[in-house]
Amino acid sequence: MGLLDHPFDPSHEAALITGAGNGIGRAIAQALVGEGVRTVFADVNPETVTAAIKASARPDLAAPWVGDLADAAARERLLAEATGTLGTITHFVHSASPPRREADHALGVTTEVWARMHAVNLEAGFHLSRELARKLIAAKQPGSFLLLTSLHAGTPRNLPHYSTSKAGLAMLVKELAKTFGRFGIRVNALVPGAIAAGGFVADPALARHIPLGRLGEANDLAPLALAVLSNRVSAYVTGAAIVIDGGLSLTNWFAPPDLGDL
Ligand SMILES: NC(=O)c1ccc[n+]([C@@H]2O[C@H](COP(=O)([O-])OP(=O)(O)OC[C@H]3O[C@@H](n4cnc5c(N)ncnc54)[C@H](O)[C@@H]3O)[C@@H](O)[C@H]2O)c1
Repeated sequence: MGLLDHPFDPSHEAALITGAGNGIGRAIAQALVGEGVRTVFADVNPETVTAAIKASARPDLAAPWVGDLADAAARERLLAEATGTLGTITHFVHSASPPRREADHALGVTTEVWARMHAVNLEAGFHLSRELARKLIAAKQPGSFLLLTSLHAGTPRNLPHYSTSKAGLAMLVKELAKTFGRFGIRVNALVPGAIAAGGFVADPALARHIPLGRLGEANDLAPLALAVLSNRVSAYVTGAAIVIDGGLSLTNWFAPPDLGDL
């Protein structure tokens, strides 16, 4: 068997993915069922969840869940229903995030929009991770969680509700990794750059700032996400922030060197 064969053990492993109706969450959820892992696709949008499952390689392994993760009662319902469907949930991906609107800058963002962004990104990320970890600890089973942060956890985005929620999530990954490591539960951050995935309406001109010369796609992220989630491939990786950005974060006030005629 090759090193990268059979990254998951579908007889003992099952996954819950938030934001699975679109973009990065959708690509990861579809890739997981493609590996034979039973997966709950959770999202606030019923149409996109149905479409994501239908378009996956193994719809028979996928179960939809629809609800608003800004709502604490809905999070409880998700935990109960996903556990009822899957049994012990060993893998968790938190990709759900409300829309980013350029009008929500520091002078524009309302209290409600601020609170909703923090509730979905940070509070749901914490609450779901903690409750899933409690169940794994009780069952004496290892687990692997992947939370989608952002380069804007560390650099401004002109959207303070978004960047501060991602900065909080980046620290949450470290807190949880440190606390849960002794139970064999790994917690990591996936840090995308500019991914034309739905949540980010990208200006194609941005590509000139990206060393690999193009914007990313959701499917660029899925293989690495699965590798980090896999207890076989990434058994010794926890608390890490894994950047996948085509080199975008290398951009600064120095342009790349002039290499003459090469
Ligand atoms: N696309 C990028 O360039 C990029 C860059 C950095 C980080 N990220 C992060 O990656 C994740 C996915 O990004 P994307 O571009 O695929 O986003 P997206 O908008 O395409 O998908 C987000 C999904 O979350 C769902 N959602 C929103 N609010 C919800 C709620 N209250 N309850 C349940 N589901 C809800 C949406 O319906 C949508 O399907 C996000 O956390 C985002 O912050 C994306």
